Amino acid sequence: MAGETTKVHKPSSLPLEGRVAIVTGASGGIGKSIASHLQSLGARVAKADLLVSEINTSGTSPQPQEIAVRADISDLDQVKLLFDRTEQEFCSKIHILVNCAGDDGSQVSSFGQYSS
Ligand SMILES: NC(=O)c1ccc[n+]([C@@H]2O[C@H](COP(=O)([O-])OP(=O)(O)OC[C@H]3O[C@@H](n4cnc5c(N)ncnc54)[C@H](O)[C@@H]3O)[C@@H](O)[C@H]2O)c1
Repeated sequence: MAGETTKVHKPSSLPLEGRVAIVTGASGGIGKSIASHLQSLGARVAKADLLVSEINTSGTSPQPQEIAVRADISDLDQVKLLFDRTEQEFCSKIHILVNCAGDDGSQVSSFGQYSS
């Protein structure tokens, strides 16, 4: 019909496009690999670790695809700050959490206490 427009929904090229993830232990072997994989699938990723200087990020941009956050996940206040900063930087709620931070089991995660 003349004048009628049809909305064409362009399918997302990547399955996790528009999704926001937090990966803890992102300086370590497993966390680093998972963070990279999530990014390859289109997710924006907050990479968190005690050793944030070892995290590679692509620098600053108006719409960052990744951020590096120094956070000790055994400290509830730092976990809350990690979540808050991730939501603020990506202007989004968090969709995915991958908790790889750890050592020999002497550190205790605070994620179990985080309920908001
Ligand atoms: N690699 C394996 O084969 C294997 C097998 C079984 C279990 N795990 C467990 O899986 C987890 C990840 O393994 P990995 O090989 O990637 O270890 P990894 O040591 O390479 O990386 C762990 C990362 O966690 C960070 N981290 C430790 N405590 C933290 C804290 N309180 N807050 C924030 N970051 C902290 C460290 O700085 C490090 O970068 C570990 O808990 C490990 O014990 C690993």
